[in-house]
Amino acid sequence: MKQLIIQGGKKLFGTINISGSKNASLPILAATLLVDEKITLKNIPDVKDISTMINLLESIGKKIKFSNSRNQIVITSKKNKKLIAPYNLVKTMRAGVLVLGPLLAKYGQARVSLPGGCAIGSRPVDLHIEMLKKMGAKIKIDKGYIVAKVIKKLKPNKLKFESISVGATENLIMAATLCKGKTTIKNIAIEPEIIDLINFLNKSGAKIFFNSKRIITIEGVESLKGSTHSIIPDRIEAGTYAVASLISNGKITLNRIDTKAMKNIFDVLKLSGAKLNSNKKNSVTVSRKKIKSLNAKTIPYPGFPTDMQAQLMSLLCLGNGKSIIKEDIFENRFLHVSELKRMGANIKIKNKSAYIQGIKNFTGAEVMATDLRASVSLVLAGLAAKGITIVNRIYHLERGYEDLVKKLKKCGASIITKNV
Ligand code: UD1
Repeated sequence: MKQLIIQGGKKLFGTINISGSKNASLPILAATLLVDEKITLKNIPDVKDISTMINLLESIGKKIKFSNSRNQIVITSKKNKKLIAPYNLVKTMRAGVLVLGPLLAKYGQARVSLPGGCAIGSRPVDLHIEMLKKMGAKIKIDKGYIVAKVIKKLKPNKLKFESISVGATENLIMAATLCKGKTTIKNIAIEPEIIDLINFLNKSGAKIFFNSKRIITIEGVESLKGSTHSIIPDRIEAGTYAVASLISNGKITLNRIDTKAMKNIFDVLKLSGAKLNSNKKNSVTVSRKKIKSLNAKTIPYPGFPTDMQAQLMSLLCLGNGKSIIKEDIFENRFLHVSELKRMGANIKIKNKSAYIQGIKNFTGAEVMATDLRASVSLVLAGLAAKGITIVNRIYHLERGYEDLVKKLKKCGASIITKNV
């Protein structure tokens, strides 16, 4: 087992190059199942969730080669396909369910393990299933698997999501891409990662028309062709290092970011006292004077992202008064709270909200990571804490942060990984 050991209290200064987005890469990798020809993907982050998705694609029937660097892959097709996403892969990464739409559209059948629960809530996939059924798929649950079939081909339809889901939107878009006729989907998620998926599919020959009002029209095409695509920057990784700069009272320049996609995150950080200076395109320098308390709520894009909630909470623990964060997307996404309290935080949870009273300092402690973003919030608290923080179960961090220790060290953090 590996631990992170952090000696807190060092102000971080330097430059961090932001990696490609994990959450954009995962659906785009799944979407390559729609294409027989060669696909080249650039700016793929080297993190565990990506290698899990690569293993899944290989087990289904793709050949994957790294070319030039660990961030660029070339994907081609093997002759034989195995239309299964097995439990052992999907249980470690829910995004495995994203192969359902492409497999149904391309091969007319799929057997995909149900992802099951995870630390941040029950996370059902009912919306994925319900909407694919509306496109003519026959779906049943058998021994923990979603068993899906299409009798002839998927049928176009006019669809509307009851509630907004990133993954279900992605699955539906991928399914409709090869579905003859016109499919309209209303109330879709419009996260930048979804726009990246649409851009990739359109580059590969799909006909997807998006208007910014959560409505999409897809004219099905016979087949897709090979293409080359560069993944967008990871806005959550960038937001996390922005908080690292603020919480440590340092000055970090974030390079290779998409400033526009980060507006919702930057707006909230500005309210917390962040000064953001941008001297060149796709780059911003983050610093502050005081940390100001504030109220925030997680909302689907363009709102403040749930994937930044835990990091913001660590920052607001050191705010100059009372803050409230409402988590409106996941039912159980406050698992970092009890660990932050062990480091001295003053937080009370009531219903969906965390009530935070600012404290002067965190104190280092041994803490346990529970999910990807909760883990990184503990690292952030550790960077600011008095004394030593030990973060256990860091495999969660490895799922989504490329070179976390290296990037923080480069800015002057005292952080090491230890095998125990
Ligand atoms: C994606 C992101 C995740 C992010 C989340 C919300 C990836 C790989 N993961 O997850 O990092 O936190 O969006 O921005 O991109 N729901 C249902 N039924 C469904 C599907 C979802 O009830 O069939 C609920 C979920 O339980 C949750 C909410 O809808 O409460 C939003 O989930 P969703 O947007 O689907 O998240 P993911 O796609 O799983």
